[in-house]
Amino acid sequence: MNIKTILLSFVVLTGVCGRIFAEEMVVRVDKPGAYIQPTMYGLFFEDINYAADGGLYAEMIKNRSFDFPQALMGWDSFGNVSVMDDGPFDRNPNYVRLKAVNHPHKSTGLSNEGFFGVAFRKGESYRFSVWARSAGDKASKIRVELIDPSAVSESQAMASRTIDIDSEEWKRYTVNLAPESTVVKGRLRIFLESEEGCDLEHVSLFPVDTWNGHENGLRKDLVQKLADIKPGILRFPGGCIVEGTDLASRYQWKNSVGPVENRPLNENRWHYTFRHRHFPDYYQSYGLGFYEYFLLAEEIGAEPLPVLSVGLACQYQNDDMKAHVPVDSLQPYIDDALDLIEFANGDIDSEWGRLRVRMGHPEPFGLKFIAIGNEQWGEEYPLRLEPFVRALRDRYPEIRIVGSSGPTASGDKFDYLWPEMKRLKVDLVDEHYYAPEEFFLSQATRYDSYDRKGPKVFAGEYACHAKGKKYNHFNASLMEAAFMTGLERNADIVHMATYAPLFAHVEGWQWRPDMIWFDNLNSVATTSYYVQQIYSVHKGSRTLPITMGGRIVTGAEGQHGLYASSVVDDETNEYIVKIVNTSESARNISLRFKGLKRGRLLSEGRCITLASSDMDSDNSLENPDIIIPVESILDVSSETLSVTVPAQSFSVYIVK
Ligand code: AHR
Repeated sequence: MNIKTILLSFVVLTGVCGRIFAEEMVVRVDKPGAYIQPTMYGLFFEDINYAADGGLYAEMIKNRSFDFPQALMGWDSFGNVSVMDDGPFDRNPNYVRLKAVNHPHKSTGLSNEGFFGVAFRKGESYRFSVWARSAGDKASKIRVELIDPSAVSESQAMASRTIDIDSEEWKRYTVNLAPESTVVKGRLRIFLESEEGCDLEHVSLFPVDTWNGHENGLRKDLVQKLADIKPGILRFPGGCIVEGTDLASRYQWKNSVGPVENRPLNENRWHYTFRHRHFPDYYQSYGLGFYEYFLLAEEIGAEPLPVLSVGLACQYQNDDMKAHVPVDSLQPYIDDALDLIEFANGDIDSEWGRLRVRMGHPEPFGLKFIAIGNEQWGEEYPLRLEPFVRALRDRYPEIRIVGSSGPTASGDKFDYLWPEMKRLKVDLVDEHYYAPEEFFLSQATRYDSYDRKGPKVFAGEYACHAKGKKYNHFNASLMEAAFMTGLERNADIVHMATYAPLFAHVEGWQWRPDMIWFDNLNSVATTSYYVQQIYSVHKGSRTLPITMGGRIVTGAEGQHGLYASSVVDDETNEYIVKIVNTSESARNISLRFKGLKRGRLLSEGRCITLASSDMDSDNSLENPDIIIPVESILDVSSETLSVTVPAQSFSVYIVK
């Protein structure tokens, strides 16, 4: 046989009969392991990157109550406009007073720039609302317009309505606007149309078509993306904003409930955290508050997981004790936690339960988990957490408590806190890791050796921050997929996992990478989103052991960059195998499902693959579908499935 014939035979054998050389993975279907928790996999929402105001929260007007420190930030005024501070809402006292200018060619009014523009779509309807009163006993009139400042048409106004303000008492007026064209960088403009002046407060504009039609609602396209993940848990409202830059600016849930007009403004630490991404107009209106978070969790089928301050302002930003509440003064903070459980679960006779009922939700929200503290560290944390745990166990023994292991996944802080969390007997420990590629590959075995007797794990914030590439790209999401085989395999101890951060406005981000990007009209799912979605939608019910060469598949020596995990779904009667191929060559794998009951064979099957020829790219608003999961049918008829796993891909094999 000459060399040409030998080479040709090799090509034929590996190409056509690739199965001869296939590596084998064995799935033990007769050895189901731990149950997958219903809380896997979840979402972590924080108001960073304009995720709430200017994002998920569908309000289109910035500084709608004129209570930013610069009262007219976001507004341009003309004519005779002044800011007053004795308004009808005591926690948002400012409003504007409009008076006519006595000249036929001059006018009074103001216009709002929105969040990176007021964007509106032709064919949609927008609800304008305002609290107003006439200045005297005559009615006053305003004209409200949605404008395109760059319009080349005859008029800048794409929609226009007038409102008669017919009372000297404060009243809410609403009118719907239906724009004639789609405008991305529009504005809302208000003219005073009468000689009689008027006062305006809480000037608001929402799309009518919000998620589930709620008036104080959320953007439909963004919530849909959350719902499509079928999340098990929703952690909110942060993150660092829970702690605050100082104690005064910590997130206070009691300020975020009740009538939306009277929720006081809070600054958002992300407006100044990174000087190179500085957003001086970034505040929290609390329009998306704890009631709305609970409702959102309920409507997307996730367990709510609120995070509350433990009495420590951000420890990165404060190295002295001024920002730490003394342990003997923690009671108001502990009360906040107890009252929150009453708000979520209490009946109509309880003070906070009554507020929930008044806000429109007579049924309890069924809160089961609460987290105390975000990224805390040092002795000061367990010292403060302990009285919370005591009070919570005492009053609400059924509520499961989540503690923190600090800002990193290893090191002194982490090593100190885990034993402390065990001592305090919290139910879950929240771990955070924003780390490079090697971390995510090496940590696929992270939880294999964790203590099974202590608290469970909540991988509460994680994302691959690739070296020199702190932006979304396919390779980073592939690393996350490889790592997540370890979360799945360790279902007995890993009970929750949430990628972070969730959302980013393309014009207003402070932190990258993120899971979902959006502008004012559209949104796009990244490949990290699809990795999360694939794991969540195909999470199954119980783990099944999967091995290669007799060992778990974690990219170990001889496994050539392959990572795998498998589960059985008792409801659909399916075996689900996830394989991540991080190597640069396609791999022929023979998947043997060992232990099938006698006479039972695999029947139909399908495969979902996420792959890209460009490891550096990701989906964008302009090209939202360049890397999306692709589904194909599998040829299945025996107990073994032969598959070719593409190079650098994430594939899921689902067989009946
Ligand atoms: O997700 C962004 C930030 O990262 C969170 O606010 C904080 O918890 C972590 O440091």
